Amino acid sequence: MSAPDPAKIERFRARLREEWTEEATVSAWRKWNAKLAAFTRGATEAILEGAQLRPGLRVLDLASGVGDPSLWIAEAVGPSGHVVATDLGPGMIGLAEELARARGLRNIEFRVADVEALPFPDESFDVVTCRFGVMFFPEQLKAFRECLRVLKPGGRVAFVVWGKREQPFLGTTAGVLAKYVEVPPPDPDAPHIAMFGERGLLKSKLEAAGFAEVREEVRTVPARWAGSPEEYWQQFTEVAAPFRPLVAKLTAEMRARAEAEIFAALRKLSDGSAITIPLEIVIGTGVHA
Ligand SMILES: C[S@@+](CC[C@H](N)C(=O)[O-])C[C@H]1O[C@@H](n2cnc3c(N)ncnc32)[C@H](O)[C@@H]1O
Repeated sequence: MSAPDPAKIERFRARLREEWTEEATVSAWRKWNAKLAAFTRGATEAILEGAQLRPGLRVLDLASGVGDPSLWIAEAVGPSGHVVATDLGPGMIGLAEELARARGLRNIEFRVADVEALPFPDESFDVVTCRFGVMFFPEQLKAFRECLRVLKPGGRVAFVVWGKREQPFLGTTAGVLAKYVEVPPPDPDAPHIAMFGERGLLKSKLEAAGFAEVREEVRTVPARWAGSPEEYWQQFTEVAAPFRPLVAKLTAEMRARAEAEIFAALRKLSDGSAITIPLEIVIGTGVHA
C-alpha cells in the first residue's frame, strides 16, 4: 500500500481539529459529561484492566476529552502515582481539569498535546492509555511510535477503540442518518470511527510501530443510558462531532422521518426508563520491550 498523500493527511488533521475543538463540541460535552461517563463505564473498566494499573505508576492518557478515563486512572494509581491527561485543544481538557478539581484529585495534570508530536521526553511514562481516540488519528503509526518513545522499557500501552460499524450504537443513529442524507464515499485513507472493527488491524498497527507482546481482544460491554430515546438522540446530535454535518444536512421533513426510525430502533433497546446498548469495543495492548 502506498503512503497517503501528505496534503490529504493535512486535510484530515484540520477537519479533526475543527470538529473536536469548536465551541459546539466543548459545550455539548460539558452538558452531557456525567451521563456519558455512566454510559461508557464498561469501556472505562476495559481500559483500566488492559493498563494493569497499580499505585505509584506514571501514566500518560491521550485524547483525554473531558477526563474519561484519565480521572479513574488517577484514582487507580493513587497519591504516589501521577497522570498526565492530554487533548488537542484547551476546551475539552479545561473541563477535565475542572472535573478533577471537583473530585479532589491532586495527582493529575492537564496538557494540550497532539499525539503525533508528544511534548514529553523519551522513556518518561510507565503506561500510555487512550480510550475512543486512536481511530481518529490521521497518522496512527506516527502516533503509536510516539507512544513507544515516551514509554519506559517494560512500559505498557492500552487502547480501547470502537468495534465494527454493524453494531447498534451506530446502526440506530448514524446508520439511519445515512439512509436520509447523501454520505460522501469514504476516503480509504481517512481514519474513521469503526476502522478497528476490522479484526487484527489494531494488533498489526501496534506491531508495526514496534510494540511487543501485542494482544487484541474484541469485547461487548453493555452501555446504559438512563433516559428516553429522544434524550439519547439529542445527546448524540450534539456530542458526536464527526456526525454533526450529516444531521445538519437533514431538511425538517427528512429529520422527522429519520427521527421516527431512530426512536423506534432505540425503543427496542429501552425498558421504559433506560436504554441499554451492547457496545462492541476492541482492546489493544502491547509492551515496550
Ligand atoms: C471521542 S473523544 C474521546 C474522549 C475520551 N478519551 C473518552 O473516551 O471519552 C475523542 C477525543 O480525541 C481527541 N483527539 C483527536 N485527535 C487527536 C490528536 N491528534 N491529538 C490529541 N487528541 C486528539 C479529541 O480532541 C477528542 O477529545
